[in-house]
Amino acid sequence: MSMEKVKTGINGLDEILEGGIPRGSTVLITGYSGTGKTILGIQFVVNGIKMFNEKGLIVIAGEDIERLQRSMLQFGWDLKRFEKEGKLILIDVTSVKIGVPTGVEFTEFQLKTTDIKQLVLTIYNAVKQNNIKRVVIDSIPNIITNKDDIQKIRTSLLTLCILLERFGCTTLMVTDIPEGSEKLSTYGVEEFVASGIIKLSLEKSGGKWIRKMQVRKMRGTKHKLDEYIFEIVENGIKILEKIT
Ligand SMILES: Nc1ncnc2c1ncn2[C@@H]1O[C@H](COP(=O)(O)OP(=O)(O)OP(=O)(O)O)[C@@H](O)[C@H]1O
Ligand SMILES: [Mg+2]
Repeated sequence: MSMEKVKTGINGLDEILEGGIPRGSTVLITGYSGTGKTILGIQFVVNGIKMFNEKGLIVIAGEDIERLQRSMLQFGWDLKRFEKEGKLILIDVTSVKIGVPTGVEFTEFQLKTTDIKQLVLTIYNAVKQNNIKRVVIDSIPNIITNKDDIQKIRTSLLTLCILLERFGCTTLMVTDIPEGSEKLSTYGVEEFVASGIIKLSLEKSGGKWIRKMQVRKMRGTKHKLDEYIFEIVENGIKILEKIT
C-alpha cells in the first residue's frame, strides 16, 4: 500500500516531493533569516484551507501577529477571515512572552505561560477538538525558553510529533540556522525528531542573488535531492528550475 501524501499545493514542490508530504509527518523548515521559511509555512496551511478543505493551526512565536497578518495579506492570505470562518486557529506565543494582549480573533487556545509542555498540550487539544490537518510552528527557537535543557526540548518536540501523527496531522516546524553556521538547526535536535527537512537558502550566483530550496530528507518516500531555484511572487512561493 502506498503512503497517503498531503499536497503542499505549491507548484513544483509537490513534484519534488513525488506527490507531497507523507500524511502525519513533521517536516523541519530550516534556513538563515529572510530565506522564506515563514512564507512557506503559512502558504502550506493556507493552501490546505483554500485548495484541500483541511483546517489549519498556526503557532506564531517571535513575530508580532498583527504584523504577520498584514504582511500575509499581500499574498492574498486573509488569516483573520479564515479564523472567523472556523478554518484556522492562531496561537500567539509572542504576546504571552512579552506580556501584551493578543491580536487573535478567538482566544480559546491562547496560553497563559510560555512553558513548552503547556504549549504542546494546547496544540494537542486544539487539533483534537477541531479536526485540524495542517500545523505550522514558527519558530521552534522562539517557543523555547532558556530554562529548557536539550533533553526537555527533544522530549517535548518528539511528543508533539507523535501526538500530531496520531491525528493524521501534517506539521511544518520552522527552525533557523545561526548565521554563518554549518548546522541544520538551532539546537541540533530538531532534525532528528522530524521526519523530513526542507532547507531554504540565499546564494549569490553569476552576480545576482538567488533563492534555493532543497528537500534534504523525507522519511517514507522517494523525493528529488536536487536544489531548486525559487522566487517569492505575488501569490507566494514559486519553484523555478533545478540547479544543475
Ligand atoms: N510581498 C512580498 N513579495 C515578494 N517578496 C517578499 C514579500 N514579502 C516578503 N518577501 C521576501 O521574503 C523575505 C522574508 O520571508 P520570510 O519572512 O518567510 O523569511 P524567514 O526565513 O521566515 O525569516 P526569519 O528567519 O527572519 O523569520 C523578505 O526578506 C523578502 O525578501
Ligand atoms: Mg520567519
